[in-house]
Amino acid sequence: MSNSFQILAIDGGAGTGKSTTASILADRLHLLHVDTGSHYRSITKYLTENEISPDSVQRFLAESSPSLSSQIEGNRSLLSVDGHIYPPASLRTKEVNHFVSHVASVAEVRTLLFDYQRGQIETAKENSFSGLVMEGRDIGTVILPDADLKIFLVADQKIRESRRQSDGEVDKISSRDFLDTSRSIAPLKESEGSLRIDTSQFSIEDVYAAIANKIGMG
Ligand code: DC
Repeated sequence: MSNSFQILAIDGGAGTGKSTTASILADRLHLLHVDTGSHYRSITKYLTENEISPDSVQRFLAESSPSLSSQIEGNRSLLSVDGHIYPPASLRTKEVNHFVSHVASVAEVRTLLFDYQRGQIETAKENSFSGLVMEGRDIGTVILPDADLKIFLVADQKIRESRRQSDGEVDKISSRDFLDTSRSIAPLKESEGSLRIDTSQFSIEDVYAAIANKIGMG
């Protein structure tokens, strides 16, 4: 096993298996797991709690930017927004699902998260992890373009919808996909040199094996 610090970036649409893949990699390779979708969800939750509509997000952030910090739980890094860490279930409500893509398309929100997310490399080192696995939509293209391995996950539309339903979520995958891929800032797209995996055809063990092999951990 190599001693070097490993940086893995995982991108893909909703329900393509990013979290399952990132979790197994983090558990087996002792990596810090950073779910950036939860960052956008936490900011959305914070804004809705402060009764800020998606249209006034820009003005609100220009006047009062929330402070961001990390709390490590097991091998996960959780975002604290002005001292609030939101419980996972509260980040997957219908309201958050509805607004999150709009909030994620605001340049000021992405600027606010950029340094925080890059800073997770230091957080992982300070907490003695062997590396970092970060999942999202723009990780390979914008946040960690220098990652040791960039992974792009895709899956059949029907399978993605049924995964989200079995998670108990009411989520319009196709409309969120449309917003996430068509926005002008940091749209979801495959980064050059990515390992592309169609997770509808493989078990999680197969996906793990393909990635582990690629980074010499197989
Ligand atoms: O992965 P998720 O479904 O929890 O992501 C929630 C939303 O956040 C998704 O609609 C797009 C946005 N997002 C983003 O724009 N960039 C990221 N790096 C991660 C998520």
